[in-house]
Formats: sequence, structure tokens, C-alpha cells
Amino acid sequence: MKKAIIGGTGVYGLDGDSRTQRVETPYGEVEVFVARMGEEEIVFLPRHGKGHQVPPHLINYRANMKALDLLGVRYVYATAAVGSMNHRYAPGDMVMVTDFLDFTKVRPLTFFDGGDGRVGHVDMTHPYCPNLRRAFYEAASKEGLEIKGEGVYVCTEGPRFETAQEIRMYQGFGGDVVGMTNVPEAVLAKELGMCYQVVGMVTNWCTGVQKEAIALHDIEAALGDNKDRLTRVFLEVFSKTLDQDHCQCHRSVVML
Ligand code: HPA
Repeated sequence: MKKAIIGGTGVYGLDGDSRTQRVETPYGEVEVFVARMGEEEIVFLPRHGKGHQVPPHLINYRANMKALDLLGVRYVYATAAVGSMNHRYAPGDMVMVTDFLDFTKVRPLTFFDGGDGRVGHVDMTHPYCPNLRRAFYEAASKEGLEIKGEGVYVCTEGPRFETAQEIRMYQGFGGDVVGMTNVPEAVLAKELGMCYQVVGMVTNWCTGVQKEAIALHDIEAALGDNKDRLTRVFLEVFSKTLDQDHCQCHRSVVML
């Protein structure tokens, strides 16, 4: 199993039949769903659990990513519900995330915790996989899925939303969208040498961007048909043979 989709808020499964599989990791057990596509099996991992029961700051990110690694996964597409602080990206839009700003506070954020007597660092020149991004754009245009643009994801600790002043600060730092989950997920994928790309699905305007209080629009309605189109695009890319010959994702770790 080389290919996986991590579903964020509002994206809870793939169409068609899938079987449940439990994976034991040093960080805890993870439940994934495995669907057959031709000769291949695709893994689906609902980030917040099957019934969306795990809040963002308590997600066991290391168990999730280690489980994918143990299954042999090398290529991961993920979705993430985000608020928008960029006037170009409105609720319902999709944004390709190209970089992040990390404002998390207390979550375990690495596999390199020195336990084996070695110190590891990971290069963040390309936080997301340029190949998966390129392949996504090609498949998305065939599917008629519009990606509104690219943007910088601000990751907050949550679970509270931001204050208006925090949003102004993040705007000043170059942020476009804000969510609570992409760090450490994207970092752990890189530590494991995986190709990883997340697509942001805008569910609301960030605090203070509009006059009204923050309104989390009906997520299902905001995501609409885009949710299904998005998974179809992921699967279209996954139906092809992928390689890691043209990106740095599997050689970004420096061990000292
Ligand atoms: N802030 C943080 N996380 C979010 C938001 C937001 O406005 N919307 C969806 N996830």
C-alpha cells in the first residue's frame, strides 16, 4: 500500500467498498480504511477519527503517520478545513497550500526525540511535494475542479479560534489560510520521507475579516460537490505510477 488520503473535517471516506484495518504503532493503535483500486490498495485515514471525535490539539499525529509508514505508504494527499484571511479565497474555495507558519504550542512535533541517541533535522525548503502538486493540477483540470490559488497555511494550536488581532498579525506575516492540524502532520510526513500535499478547503472567513462574528458555514454545504471531486482527483493521480525521482521528499532528513 503506497498511496494514502488523509481526510480532514467534512471528508470522512472514499466511495465504494473498503475494509477496516488496525495498525499497531509505538505511539498507539490507528484505524484506517483500505479500498481497492485496480491492482492497488489505497489507504484512507480520517484525521479526527471515524466519527470526528478527536479535537485538533489531541490528534495522535505520530501514530497516524507512523501507521501509514508501516503500511508502506510513500504518497499522501490530505484535505484540511481552513479559515480564510485572504480576500481572494472565500468559503467554498479550494486553496493549494505551498508553505506553512507554525504557531502550535504543546503537541509532540517530531519522531526525532533523541531516544536512539541521534539528533535528526528535516529540511523544509519544500514543505510540500512539488510533484504531487503538479500531478494534482493536471488531474484537477480534467475533472473540472477549480483550485482558487496557492497560499500559506498558518497552523494554530486551537481548539479556540483566533482573535482578530492574531489574524491581523498572521496576515502581516504572509498567511492566507488558518487551520489547526497541518503541523505536525506535514512535518512528520517529511521526517518519514513521504511525498505529501495538503489542499485547504475554506469553510469560513477568519475572525475580524468580516464585520460579523466568525460563522463556521455549514461545512457540508461549503464543501459541496468539491469534496467528491477532490477525492476523485486524488484517485486519478493515484491510478498512475508515481516515483520519488524528481523531488527531495525522501532525502530531506539530516541525521547528526
Ligand atoms: N481558524 C482555525 N482553524 C480553522 C478555521 C479558523 O478560522 N476554520 C477551519 N479551521
